[in-house]
Amino acid sequence: ENVIKAALLGFGTVGTGVYKVLKNQEKEMSAKIGCKVEIKKILVRNIEKAAAKIEDASLLTSQWDEIINDPEIEIVIELMGGINPAKEYILSALKAGKHVVSANKDLIAVHGHELLDAAHESKVDFLFEAAVAGGIPIIRPLKQCLAGNHMTEVMGIVNGTTNFILTKMTQEGMEFKDALALATELGYAEADPTADIEGLDAGRKVAILASVAFNSRVVFNDVYTEGIAKITSKDIHYAKEMGRDIKLLGVARNEADGIEAYVCPMLIPSSHPLATVNDSYNAVFVHGDAVEDAMFFGRGAGELPTASAVVGDVFDIVRNILAGCCGRIGCTCYKNIPVKKMED
Ligand code: NAP
Ligand code: HSE
Repeated sequence: ENVIKAALLGFGTVGTGVYKVLKNQEKEMSAKIGCKVEIKKILVRNIEKAAAKIEDASLLTSQWDEIINDPEIEIVIELMGGINPAKEYILSALKAGKHVVSANKDLIAVHGHELLDAAHESKVDFLFEAAVAGGIPIIRPLKQCLAGNHMTEVMGIVNGTTNFILTKMTQEGMEFKDALALATELGYAEADPTADIEGLDAGRKVAILASVAFNSRVVFNDVYTEGIAKITSKDIHYAKEMGRDIKLLGVARNEADGIEAYVCPMLIPSSHPLATVNDSYNAVFVHGDAVEDAMFFGRGAGELPTASAVVGDVFDIVRNILAGCCGRIGCTCYKNIPVKKMED
């Protein structure tokens, strides 16, 4: 039977989720994609800590050389987070002709174009569906299914942790810090949750969404960000009295004089569809000249929902390898659209 071998970089919330989803798919995947995917190595910093989470601890390594120098490993799945060494590992994997899947929005929102260029050069795939809105398919729909549109707007709730915190504060009167602790325990928050609560994580996702939707190059630094750290129970109470909910929204618009992109908490009518997006759910609205409005909804964070998107990317790469058409999706053509500076 045909087997394609992959390596996981990182075995935290998402890494363990991907391992579980691949195990759950073991019986079905051959019929679905034409071959099996086997995890040959898992890179971690602390082998002892990771060994408690896996039956076969011989898969664990702390040596990147064992992965980059192994010609049998065709797919590298980067789930460590952060800029370095993730960027260095991804670039060297792409240059070595390995396909890469990543959920790392911190990296992609700043260096995504360099990574796509490297993938294009090597004619390999670099896919990152899980980097925006967890389990919701949004990158692939924008890049492929909606490619026949001139897209003018992408907006919505793109951070699960802050939506979870606001939901708990609104519906259960929970304190901010208790809701954040629970979001962290449930695996929704970033390693440093400041990125969630200050709106930076949502800003990174807006940069990626705007780049893909508007076929442009928008980086994190172009996005104005404001988080929910200053929102108090009193604010939520007064909003409710006015028939409003507070939601952290990310918005990107493609206007005649350039792109505007921002993240900030907003008051929305309690009857608005976005007000019903609660817990760790995300929702993304898009507007294009042909499709008009479309909305995507689902779990925006967490172990298995995020793993669902990562494994979808891995399966797509396997299909491309078997069909001999890698590098098909990560096209590097783009337009230079100016991004407007937003004031505080
Ligand atoms: P996590 O639980 O903190 O796991 C990170 C893993 O990477 C840990 O196993 C860690 O090992 C390992 N690691 C970090 N730096 C490493 C290095 N230099 N060398 C080897 N291993 C290293 O993080 P996560 O929540 O799974 O997130 C992973 C990525 O997915 C991040 O880019 C995150 O932004 C993204 N993401 C997360 C979610 C979510 O819901 N959690 C959703 C979408 C995207 P040690 O434990 O030994 O330090
Ligand atoms: N920390 C992120 C969130 C994970 O809460 O949305 C998913 O990207």
